Amino acid sequence: MKTTISEAGKYVEQTVTMGSWLANKRSSGKIVFLQLRDGTGFIQGVVVKAEVGEEIFARAKELTQESSLFVTGTVREDERAPSGYELTVTDIDVIQLAEDYPITPKEHGTEFLMDHRHLWLRSKKQHAIMKIRNEIIRATYEFFNEQGFTKVDPPILTGSSAEGTTNLFHTKYFDEDAYLSQSGQLYMEAAAMAFGKVFSFGPTFRAEKSKTRRHLIEFWMIEPEMAFMDHEESLVVQENYVSFVIQAVLKNCPLELKVLDRDTEKLEKMSAPFPRITYDEAIEFLQNEGHEIEWGEDFGAPHETAIAESYNQPVFIINYPKDIKAFYMKPHPDREDIVLCADLIAPEGYGEIIGGSQRIDDQELMKQRYDEHNLSLESYQWYLDLRKYGSVPHSGFGLGLERTVAWISGTEHVRETIPFPRLLNRLYP
Ligand code: 4AD
Repeated sequence: MKTTISEAGKYVEQTVTMGSWLANKRSSGKIVFLQLRDGTGFIQGVVVKAEVGEEIFARAKELTQESSLFVTGTVREDERAPSGYELTVTDIDVIQLAEDYPITPKEHGTEFLMDHRHLWLRSKKQHAIMKIRNEIIRATYEFFNEQGFTKVDPPILTGSSAEGTTNLFHTKYFDEDAYLSQSGQLYMEAAAMAFGKVFSFGPTFRAEKSKTRRHLIEFWMIEPEMAFMDHEESLVVQENYVSFVIQAVLKNCPLELKVLDRDTEKLEKMSAPFPRITYDEAIEFLQNEGHEIEWGEDFGAPHETAIAESYNQPVFIINYPKDIKAFYMKPHPDREDIVLCADLIAPEGYGEIIGGSQRIDDQELMKQRYDEHNLSLESYQWYLDLRKYGSVPHSGFGLGLERTVAWISGTEHVRETIPFPRLLNRLYP
């Protein structure tokens, strides 16, 4: 019977064969312990000389790290094993004896590991992070499908910018200029006018010269957009969505959280509604704490961390000054200088994971913003059309997948939360 490590529990006391790689090996006299992995999980294979005979035992002993093999054995229940099972090996069929593997169980520097990212992905910790990433994506689709959203895919090659021109990736589009998408939002607004509630999930690109634990050049964003919803209603969707994702990871990734040593007690306490403070209150708080920041300035990482530290939950900072936010945000009804927007700040120093707002729905005001931001009517006429033909109040937001994975998995740097990170100094592998 051919099976996988994750399915081994279905075959207790039966003989099975598994395709696997050797993650690690330990010998003790007449026994060899094989740490096997197959992508679905990890299991220990026990090879006892007296049971398998000289030839198979010798084969087990000469196996090198990352050799590929078909292993046959009997599945045993074992309480001490993380997966709950062990394999008593009866046969080993070597597919390839691997050459000297560069990543050994000893410590390696980050640059070395990043140079070997194509291999590093096989390690237990990286495997756990990617599984949590996968669970967050799965739970995202479940949440939005259940809430009646339609998935719509915005383009990646665009003719105009969504989030300002300072960090656009430029490319030629035959004879025209084009840019890699910074955000699908403007297209998602068009989609919301066609489908009501929509969400996208795709790669976005920012030519940001930032070298921090929170910045990637290429990252993946989930962007919901909702017609007939004001900003207040959008905040409720956001906190319910984030709570749902946390619960899904806690429920479906217990082994992975354990491998990563994640403090799950902290995660268990996070549930909607999340606390909210205004930008004004945040500035006052920071000034009282001795930070040098004036009204009108944007928050940096230390500011966000200081604010988040006062809560054990993610916190919404709402109503930022209009001048530090994107052109499309709707002004506050009582104050011209602030907009109906929010950033959701994750606890434990992981920073902003969501940016969202209610969008301007008035044609004249939008035209005024085009002028203020030097946006050409020619490029943005289609976006203005949305305010021309049945304009409605609408809101949306973008959740950065990698920062969310970093926070939920307890991973310090976003570079480990995407399979092949694109960083300021890294385009390979
Ligand atoms: O706040 P941002 O720039 O918002 C938008 O792009 C809106 N158009 C979204 C919308 O309303 N549809 O980015 C949203 C999120 C941030 O909160 C952060 O989580 C993530 O995207 N993000 C990054 N993640 C990794 N590396 C970067 N360089 C990021 N820049 C933003």
